[in-house]
Amino acid sequence: MSQSPAPATVELGGGHLLRAATPDDIDDIVTLEVAAFGASDEPRLRAHLNAPATDTQPAGVDDWTVVCQRGRVVSACGLLHHRLWVDGAVVPAGQIEWVATAPGHRRGGLVRAQFSWLHRRATEHGMVVLLVAGIPYLYRRFGYGYGLSWPGTWHLADDSHRRLAHRGQVRIRPAEPRDVAALVSADAHRHQRQVRIERSSDTWARLVSYCRPGGAERLAVAEDRQGDLVGWVKSEHADVERQVWALPSYAATTDVGRALVAHVAAERPPEWSLHLAGGPGAWGATLRATARSTRYDHGIFVRCPDPHALARALVPVWNRRLANSDHHESGELDISLYRTTVRLHLDEGKVTEVGHGPIIEDPFDHADVGVAPDWFGALCFGRWGAQGLAERCDDVTLGRYPGLMGTLFPRLDSDVVCDL
Ligand SMILES: CC(C)(COP(=O)(O)OP(=O)(O)OC[C@H]1O[C@@H](n2cnc3c(N)ncnc32)[C@H](O)[C@@H]1OP(=O)(O)O)[C@@H](O)C(=O)NCCC(=O)NCCS
Repeated sequence: MSQSPAPATVELGGGHLLRAATPDDIDDIVTLEVAAFGASDEPRLRAHLNAPATDTQPAGVDDWTVVCQRGRVVSACGLLHHRLWVDGAVVPAGQIEWVATAPGHRRGGLVRAQFSWLHRRATEHGMVVLLVAGIPYLYRRFGYGYGLSWPGTWHLADDSHRRLAHRGQVRIRPAEPRDVAALVSADAHRHQRQVRIERSSDTWARLVSYCRPGGAERLAVAEDRQGDLVGWVKSEHADVERQVWALPSYAATTDVGRALVAHVAAERPPEWSLHLAGGPGAWGATLRATARSTRYDHGIFVRCPDPHALARALVPVWNRRLANSDHHESGELDISLYRTTVRLHLDEGKVTEVGHGPIIEDPFDHADVGVAPDWFGALCFGRWGAQGLAERCDDVTLGRYPGLMGTLFPRLDSDVVCDL
């Protein structure tokens, strides 16, 4: 899908000028964002804005937009780069984060205009998926759908950490730069058949650099008697909400998990609530055994601007799934997205090509496969599996291919929280 490059400056009316951010904007952006989201966001925000260019990514601030009026930054947001793993396949992805407009300038289309700009930018970077978390429905207005569920969220009662007090032999301490290699290795224990955002050594190094003991963002590691890293937990003390949030973390055993949960719980200020994001392995098992499950309100927004490109990235995954199934069909499977159709060419149970099929405006008519485009992400990322998606959504149908679609699109777990 080709789009023309973003112009240098766009006039939005009312004296508002939209442009790419520069390093000179960083302090003004931080002021705007801290006013919107609280001081606890500042360390992470500055780390992203000041991130230098790497072999694969431009400098952090280069993918931010600002809207200025009379030289003052009144709206801003940034595009983060990710590699999204989907059941073993890597998909170039982005995330739009820190979306904020100053009071007095809201409802004037400033965010809508920046999203158009950042969508073009994302296409230039070859991103085939975009993620955003936030206000219900808002981003559906910009072509996003609810493509991913939050990993389960768990709540710990006020005094629970006392009974979790660990009797084993782990030491918990703040993470340091020397831990980066071990943190990268620990990520190899994340479930490989899962939707997850890759954390590179650059990601971990940045995390370690902005997390501080006693600060808004904290990263603690657990080490065993030999000094080997056997777990980590990342927590955020959100001052505006008076909540402590822990990301899906890692524990080699449930004993380590209990020690980490007890550690986070003990650090929670009085009267603040504690929320822990679930995940695979011993970390998730610890939460299931010790905390109360709560439902986080809605999913993560996902935009798939080029469904054919996304489909091409998933071909190896589909072929592995087909090889492990009874489906050895040859022929064409058309997945109607109503305005466009993704056609899979199958040859004896192998997807050999992804192309465009004829537009099918009413797939229900002749028992074709139809997926409204804003649910295509949920289909590809296994939010409920093809069958579950069709049961939930009026404009999704598996037509005469429920078995084949179920094989191609099973339900997957995800530990994406849009946050690292
Ligand atoms: C939410 C916020 C970013 C919107 O910025 P904005 O510049 O006013 O947004 P726009 O004027 O471009 O509006 C974009 C669309 O979202 C809608 N919208 C704006 N604010 C909204 C809100 N708070 N809730 C729901 N929808 C909203 C608008 O109606 C508009 O829809 P339309 O284009 O289809 O008419 C701004 O109110 C803000 O900074 N709030 C505080 C920080 C925050 O909550 N950020 C979002 C985190 S997810």
